[in-house]
Amino acid sequence: MNAQGGVNTPARGYPYDGTVAGPWWKSAVFYQIYPRSFADSDGDGVGDLEGIRGHLDHLQWLGIDAIWVCPFYRSPMADFGYDVSDYCDVDPLFGTLDDFDRLLAEAHERGIRVIVDWVPNHTSDRHPWFMESRSSRDNPKRDWYIWRDEVNNWKAAFGGDAWTWDDATGQWYLHLFLPGQPDLNWRNPEVVAAMHDTLWFWLDRGVDGFRVDVVQGLLKDPSFPDDPPGGVLPHSELNDCPDVHPALRDLRALVDSYPGDRMLVGEVYLLSTRQVAAYLGRGDELHLAFDFTPLYAPWEADAWRAQVETTLAELGPVDAVATWTLSNHDNPRHRTRYGGSEARARAAAVLLLTLPGVPFLYAGEELGLEDAVVAADRVVDPGGRDPCRAPLPWDPSPGDGGATENPWLPWPPEPEVRNVATLADDRASILHLYRRLLVARHATLSLQRGGLELLPGTGSVLAFARHHWDERRAVVVNFATTGAALELEGDWDVEVASDGRGEGGPFPGAVAGDTAVVLRPRPR
Ligand code: NOJ
Repeated sequence: MNAQGGVNTPARGYPYDGTVAGPWWKSAVFYQIYPRSFADSDGDGVGDLEGIRGHLDHLQWLGIDAIWVCPFYRSPMADFGYDVSDYCDVDPLFGTLDDFDRLLAEAHERGIRVIVDWVPNHTSDRHPWFMESRSSRDNPKRDWYIWRDEVNNWKAAFGGDAWTWDDATGQWYLHLFLPGQPDLNWRNPEVVAAMHDTLWFWLDRGVDGFRVDVVQGLLKDPSFPDDPPGGVLPHSELNDCPDVHPALRDLRALVDSYPGDRMLVGEVYLLSTRQVAAYLGRGDELHLAFDFTPLYAPWEADAWRAQVETTLAELGPVDAVATWTLSNHDNPRHRTRYGGSEARARAAAVLLLTLPGVPFLYAGEELGLEDAVVAADRVVDPGGRDPCRAPLPWDPSPGDGGATENPWLPWPPEPEVRNVATLADDRASILHLYRRLLVARHATLSLQRGGLELLPGTGSVLAFARHHWDERRAVVVNFATTGAALELEGDWDVEVASDGRGEGGPFPGAVAGDTAVVLRPRPR
């Protein structure tokens, strides 16, 4: 240990080490809520806004800073809310605008910020704008969507072509997702103004920001070129038209013009950290952008070391903050992806909550949930994402006569033991591990907003130090199933261990298989 209580290992010379200062969202931990699956207050089998409000105490106890609520707007639910038919109202399935206002006020009373999902790339085909647009070729809203006499080879997400023929007016319309999700024409200034109005609507209600859906698809190459031959990728995964950047600068200016540090976090579904970083502009586009490359990285030390290096190197030039996501409503849960071991899911929690940048938790990962098994006759999602969307079990008998007797999807595995009430009673549970990690993070500036220095590790071990002025923490993650020794300079105590062992005691210089620890310098 050096005189400042840190490690002597020289930094590896990144242009940028991840140190941040500034507004709340730069050091927040977000918690994603898929409202259908979070908590059902009225017993219709589908979660709702009142269900979220009723569990704010749990979220406050857990220690998250902000919630992102997936779409709850009026919708025919072809894509479970990502097909919006009214951006400025709550679907009756989820409650009312008054319910939303109460949820927001009570979250704020607890110091929890609220961001809502904004779906600007497409509407529902039942949105009044599209109904007008499709009614005739000379309707004033015809150009609000993308109509063509001839089409290219683009494929839609969830299968099929990205163009659907509309008999009534004899043209094709574009939809990067389902035919029930026609793409808006963001080159039409009236569309831009109308969509900006929907942002004002929610800003005026007091939301803290927006998660922006399908940012990379918003603008299309005006020449509509064919995708490369032989490709079977949906076009939504390829689109990256440079014209999106001025549109994002306008959105940023709008949100920044509002008092109180409102923010935009964009879903940039391009599987390259470099391409994602471009959507942050020079601090004048998205405030944060999801980078899904870590979500698709295997559970291997080398892959994660490379990812951390890439992230810091790519975000450095734009002085931006990284985001880290392991699970969400579109992908198998990480416990399932990593092979099902709870020990490994616990180690992953340590990694997720100690990397520099902003972590996004997906509701249920704090319970160590695995994906549900969804029988063929219960499948409801056209995109095959039902298993990760199973409802959250709140008590040991979630399916036993309670309000949630018949949930819209089957329960995830082991609901009788893997539920909030049971795990909250067990201080050794994964739920308490998440809580201890969040407590440590809030109490420790180096974990919240400090720089990062990779430490030499053996093959299966990723080790790094976080530092903020003279405060230091070290994090050691063992990706192997067998134990590994690690020599660290100086004397360290275990602050948090993914298996709960040895916390408060000296770091023994070894980490068990599928285990991770947060270490603090031993006081002298
Ligand atoms: C991304 C969302 O996360 C996903 O759930 C949705 O199906 C598509 N965008 C289309 O809105």
